[in-house]
Amino acid sequence: MKILHTSFECHPVAKVGGLADVVGALPKYQSNFDIDSFVVMPFYKNTYLKKKKLQEVYKGTIDLNGNTYEYVVSKFESKNISYKLFLIQIVGLLDTENVYGYTNETHRYIGFQKALLDWIQQSDLNFDVIHCHDHHTSLIPFFINHCSDYKYLQNIPTVLTIHNAQYQGQFSHENLDLLPEFDFTNVGLLDWYGSVNPLAAGIKCATKVNTVSPSYMEELKESACGLEGLLSSESQKFSGILNGIDTSVWNPETDNSLSKNYKVGNVISGKKANKLALCKEYGFNPDLPLFGFIGRLVYEKSADLLADVIREVLSNNKELNIFILGSGNEEIEKDIEQLKEEFPENFNAYIGYDEALSHLIYAGADFLLMPSRVEPCGLNQMYSLRYGTVPIVRRTGGLRDTVIDIGDGGFGICHDQASVWDICYSIGRAIELFKDQKSFRKIQKQIMKIDNSWDKSAKEYVDLYKSI
Ligand code: ADP
Ligand code: GLC
Repeated sequence: MKILHTSFECHPVAKVGGLADVVGALPKYQSNFDIDSFVVMPFYKNTYLKKKKLQEVYKGTIDLNGNTYEYVVSKFESKNISYKLFLIQIVGLLDTENVYGYTNETHRYIGFQKALLDWIQQSDLNFDVIHCHDHHTSLIPFFINHCSDYKYLQNIPTVLTIHNAQYQGQFSHENLDLLPEFDFTNVGLLDWYGSVNPLAAGIKCATKVNTVSPSYMEELKESACGLEGLLSSESQKFSGILNGIDTSVWNPETDNSLSKNYKVGNVISGKKANKLALCKEYGFNPDLPLFGFIGRLVYEKSADLLADVIREVLSNNKELNIFILGSGNEEIEKDIEQLKEEFPENFNAYIGYDEALSHLIYAGADFLLMPSRVEPCGLNQMYSLRYGTVPIVRRTGGLRDTVIDIGDGGFGICHDQASVWDICYSIGRAIELFKDQKSFRKIQKQIMKIDNSWDKSAKEYVDLYKSI
């Protein structure tokens, strides 16, 4: 079976969050099931692609709002990438340094989808399924079913994976001209509450829709930023497939971002060496329990609560250290910077994006904080488990599906509310656990053995493809 994944992110080429990790790993695992996987993404003028050799495979043009743009499709090969990866470049649209944050986002998303469909139609690639990830590429099911420009692609089944329903890509009807020509009686398929809503259109037009954990699927039927009614009515084609992790990238035994590699057998000395490296760099006493947070500093992740949590905990207790790696909301970033001055011995942070540092934190921290308000799946908690770091999570979405509280016979620390009190209480429980080093070490070994790899979920996607 030949599958095309369409996405704006794919690790290692361009990553903002978990979407990149999933699109970078799932196709690789699918090859174990006799799937010929292709990924197509935009070209970026970023550090990763700088000086990389690309092999041009196709050139074409698209029309966008009365302008003609030339696009170039290139193949990118690397020893780390086992699937076929293609990049589409359009000067002025798909050649930015960053993935998001530009004023012409709608043009970029639509330009990408038009170019990729034009290319596969002209190239006779004959995909069995087109698998679209998130709203950036969720107009594809509408385009191929309702726009005559792509009539030769019409019968290709489509899967839409919703990684995060908070982002839907809405734009005004005034921009309908950006779309390929379609019969206007079908405009209702694009519309949701007065805007053109690409995610809603994808849900209506894709053959199958899924999200990235069973619990988030249930939550979305109740509350999905306005899409709950639609998801409930389309529930017969909607499923929840839990993400996995790429255990070759996320492997403490071989990870070259670590100060010392380790496995279950030497987890204690291995984690100690990484903790020492982290503590040395950031000025912490390594004998104290170290709590890490890694992620986008946004409301969804409860990052707005972190400063209050840290003040509350560290004003009363200096027997722990907390480290934050992240970037996002400016106010939150400022508040976190301020905390460094308030608690110079017990708190530190790196505001920014640093892939290698994230690996060192998963390895060197004792606990990972993940108090998310919304977490469709979450990968951090699975990485932390693999590196022997005990996750502290709010029971929501994929966190509920992957972390079981120690009190319920599990291996993590869970709370229900996204509140300062609940998070502080969980930190208190973690400190008590850390004092009981025998139990703590037993849990570290136990969690490293949990199998969250893509093997099982990759098969679920294959079954989904086969069903259509
Ligand atoms: P989301 O996609 O909602 O941000 P996930 O838990 O699915 O959340 O994935 C986040 C991914 O991004 C993980 O690989 C995590 O390690 C990484 N990450 C997040 N913020 C940073 C950062 N500031 N520096 C390095 N890696 C980060
Ligand atoms: C989104 C979600 C996150 C999920 C990731 C990969 O960014 O916020 O929970 O793990 O996509 O599916």
